Formats: sequence, C-alpha cells, structure tokens
Amino acid sequence: MAALTVSISERSVVLGEHVIPGRWLRDHGDDIDSLNPDSKQRLTDTFGIDPQIAPAAVHVDGAWLSVDWSDGVRTGHDLDRLLAVASSRRSLWPRTGSGFTLPAGVDLWDSPAEATWFDFGVLDDDAAWTEALDHLRRFGWAAFDGAELGEESTMRLAKRIGYPRASIFGTVWNMNSGSFEHQDSAYESFALDVHTDGTYSHDGPGTIVFAQQLKTGEGGDSVLVDGFAAARDFQAQNPEAADLLTRYAVTAHYVEPGVHLVAERPPLRVDEHGTLVQVSFNNYDRSPVLPDEGLVDDVIDAYNGFRAVFNDSSRALVHPWQPGRVLVFDNWRCFHGRTGFSGERRFKGCYTNHEDLEGAYRVAGLI
Ligand SMILES: [Fe+2]
Repeated sequence: MAALTVSISERSVVLGEHVIPGRWLRDHGDDIDSLNPDSKQRLTDTFGIDPQIAPAAVHVDGAWLSVDWSDGVRTGHDLDRLLAVASSRRSLWPRTGSGFTLPAGVDLWDSPAEATWFDFGVLDDDAAWTEALDHLRRFGWAAFDGAELGEESTMRLAKRIGYPRASIFGTVWNMNSGSFEHQDSAYESFALDVHTDGTYSHDGPGTIVFAQQLKTGEGGDSVLVDGFAAARDFQAQNPEAADLLTRYAVTAHYVEPGVHLVAERPPLRVDEHGTLVQVSFNNYDRSPVLPDEGLVDDVIDAYNGFRAVFNDSSRALVHPWQPGRVLVFDNWRCFHGRTGFSGERRFKGCYTNHEDLEGAYRVAGLI
C-alpha cells in the first residue's frame, strides 16, 4: 500500500491510476456512520448528497483512506476494497430495443384510495378467494382482516398462493420490533424507506405476506407504492434515464454470521419482449459498484431520479395495522416501507415465489 498515491483532482479522488468521482465515493464510506458494521447496510443518506460535492482533504493511514468533504462530513474507506471496486467498473448490459412497455391487464394506481379489506374467511370460499386474488393481480396487493393470530393463518394464506418459501429468515418468520433476530433494518423502529425485498436474491420473493400479531404504541403503518405506475411515470418524464435503469445492473448483498448473499439486476427488469416484469430497489442493501467512466453521473441521476418519483408520498397507500390484519403484496411490483413507531410491533411473515403467484392466477382463470 505504501506505493499508492492519493490525491484530489477537481471533484474526484485519485487513487494511483483510478479516478473515483467524489459524488460516488461520498456515498460509499466504510466507516460506522456510513455503513452498519454488522449487516453492511447503508446508513448514508444517498439522496441528500449534493451532486457537486467535492473532497477537501484526503489522508491515508495504512489501509484506511479518510476523506474530508465539502459538506463537512468525513468518510473512511477500506483501501483494499476500494481498489478492488475501482478495478472492476460496471458497464451497461446490452439489450435490443429501448425502454419498456407495461404488462397488460393490471390497474396502475398513483393516488390510492384507502386500503380495502377482505374478510379472512374468503380463504374458505373459492369464488370469494378468486375475487381477492384478482384484486392482488390488478392492484399488486390485497388486505385481509379477521385472521386468527399465530403461524397457521399466515401459512394458509401463503399456501393459497404457492408454497411458503424457506429463506434466510425461516419459512414463516417472526418480525418483532427490538428482537433483532436478524441483522436487518426491518427490526428497527425508525421509518423505513419504501423498497423491495430480496434484491440480494437471484429470484427475489414474489409475494410477501405480513400478518400482525401484536401492536402497542403509535405509528408503524405499512406503506405501499405501485412500482409499475412509478416506472411508467418516470419513463414519461425521462425516457433515457428509465432506459438506462433497464440496462444497468445494481448489486445488493445480505450479510450476517454464516450468510453472505449477493445478486444483481437492473432496477427496471424487462423480459425479451421489452415488457417490464420486475422493479428492484433497496438502497440499504446496495453494494459498492463503480460504473464505467463517463457513466457515473448518468447512473446516479437515473437511480436518484426514479427514487424521487416512487418515493413521492402522494403515491403511498398507507395500511394501518391491528392484530388480525394481513397484507399480501407482489414484491416484483410494489415497493413497501413503514412509518416510524413507538411501542411494540409483532408480525408473522412469509414469502412465496412469483412463478407460483402467476400460477395461482392461471389456475383461477385470471390470466
Ligand atoms: Fe422489506
């Protein structure tokens, strides 16, 4: 490391032969204020970074690079990791065509009405269940009230859609505030930005079932956003940026003792016909990958631009919880998040695969 020269050039940091744009580097600190040291989830406020941010001073101490920034923040960087990232920059995936079309037969929503509820008893009636399933197909979510507490009703709903998926969290898992069964921001009590789950999985969960078991205190509502409607609007607003997000793969990771998952895909994934099939976005779990020279600003602008569209609170369907309520949504279409809360909040959760969800639609004659 002794031979490595580190300097500042305009708004970039120069590491030996690598020119690393400050705007990217400011977002990728390895220090404890930038990155959770256990889960490796991002703590930096990516979207608050000034595009014109510049390094003011750099300092190398062994394998650690410290950078003082024009916004007064200091970040720290593991030089070995940074050099590895800088040595394998990412280009765009080739594909024919550009942009995307939306799948037929779905009802995109921008300014949702209040949540509507099916009685959980519809699971016992094929015709009523088909109606609930059609709501899920059209809008990307379905909400139920009156479920018995405990694991069984969560399992029953998941089985109506497909087979409950075994994941790193278990099959039917507990998500209880403050228990930290896994090193994930989901177990904290702060507001959680809307995101999709499993960006670190090659086959991201198709549906997510949440069933509330206990609630004390205030807040903690679930928030859903129609990712397909947001993608449509983003494309109308900025077609080049939307096209870029169909070609630029974002890498994500999940880390806890004994587990290290990594996957990558474009935030807007299209099929071979150019139809949008999946949105993926989780800024907490995004891994450090440096775009090709000349592509950095375009990628960051597109990523931040899409987020600005889908993160608009006017798009949010707020789902207030009480024990006995269950929510199922399409994780390939809807973003989900949660408002901050006080007190205790306990859930059962379960994933199913998207192919099974599609299969359930076919079996019910809905597609
Ligand atoms: Fe989540």
